[in-house]
Amino acid sequence: MATIKAWRSAILHCTANPAEVGTDQAFEYFEDGLLVEKDGIIQALGNAEEQITLLDSTIEVEHHPEALIVPGFVDTHIHYPQSDMIASYGEQLLDWLNNYTFPEESKFADKQYASDVAERFLAELLRNGTTTALVFGTVHKQSVDAFFEAALPLNLRMICGKVMMDRHAPDYLTDTPETAYEDSKELIERWHNHGRLHYAVTPRFAPTSTSEQLAAAGKLLSEYDDLYMHTHLSENRQECSWVQELFPDSKNYLDVYDQHQLLSERSVFAHGIHLCDQEYNRLSETGSAIAFCPTSNLFLGSGLFNLEKAELHKVNVGMGTDVGGGTSFSMFNTLNEAYKVIQMQGQNLDPIKSFYLATLGGAKALRLDGKVGNLAIGSEADFVIIDKHATPLLSKRLERAKDIKDTLFALMILADDRAIQATYAMGQCVHQRDA
Ligand code: GUN
Ligand code: ZN
Repeated sequence: MATIKAWRSAILHCTANPAEVGTDQAFEYFEDGLLVEKDGIIQALGNAEEQITLLDSTIEVEHHPEALIVPGFVDTHIHYPQSDMIASYGEQLLDWLNNYTFPEESKFADKQYASDVAERFLAELLRNGTTTALVFGTVHKQSVDAFFEAALPLNLRMICGKVMMDRHAPDYLTDTPETAYEDSKELIERWHNHGRLHYAVTPRFAPTSTSEQLAAAGKLLSEYDDLYMHTHLSENRQECSWVQELFPDSKNYLDVYDQHQLLSERSVFAHGIHLCDQEYNRLSETGSAIAFCPTSNLFLGSGLFNLEKAELHKVNVGMGTDVGGGTSFSMFNTLNEAYKVIQMQGQNLDPIKSFYLATLGGAKALRLDGKVGNLAIGSEADFVIIDKHATPLLSKRLERAKDIKDTLFALMILADDRAIQATYAMGQCVHQRDA
């Protein structure tokens, strides 16, 4: 039997890219809205008073007069195995990898350990209102099995992949071009497009893969229509110099990936801080995306992402938390830091634009728009109920908000997981905050 349910509240979502249509044309806001869901799909969205007259009187309506409903957040770059090593002190990227990350990731050879972290990781995402993410595993194929096995019963739209890494890492964490190809293929056959799950071919970054391994990644991508490719790009200056030494025949960092056929509409590159015009152009031409990870970029001292340049070159951009280089699972915190990164470059990040990047923009970067990222009719009913009174300070500040943009901005600066009252996936509650 079909189940229909409705939620009445203030409702906000983006319908287009503010960089293309202007901020005022990019969103819909219903001060007293109604969202109707049937079998996990959004059936109706509009003003409550109008919509309620169209609704069968037997349908249950959940009323949240003091809340704001928004789409589930989309995190375009995060590492689930780094959940427990978040907040590791004192290093920039390359030392941070050697001193903290690699030892932690070695523990994922143990499937039970991986399953335990995967479950807590997903619970943490949902506590923060994130319902879709592009996720790194470790080099161990069982790390990806553990992740997808945990995501499947929650019915979340999630993308993950096994790290490919055959050099410049400890022996206990390396594979080979052949085993990386075979293990990835096995995981693709098992998990790709299984329910709402998808697979991403995941070379860690150019320094930890030989040319042979990057070619194996390209071969996998050529063998399936709709696989993702997920890696890091141009994050740290030392890393960039190292890539130029390791691949002297490449025109630039991105060209290393390009030479191995790793650029496409389903390719997502984390960071992209130190890029030249040629690289922006190539990202744009190929429909590739950048994951902007401000908490990580500041924490690891990597640099300031140039959003204006990315927009100028029409490169798709989504937000990434990059936990554990990033310091928070919260999209509010991530947008807070994004605002400051843009401030440091003498510009302002409009709240509608940053909300777009964390929802529909992320979905577009992952080619999942139409499914997630907004609350358009026909989309999957992944949404979040935000409590405007989560803390005394937030409550007081929102009382004097001028309009929805001001509300949104104050949420981005002041809110965190405490403001996520409930999270829904396909119309089912997957997180409910304690009272
Ligand atoms: N570059 C290569 N590996 C990593 C990683 O795990 N985190 C970050 N932030 N950058 C990387
Ligand atoms: Zn990362």
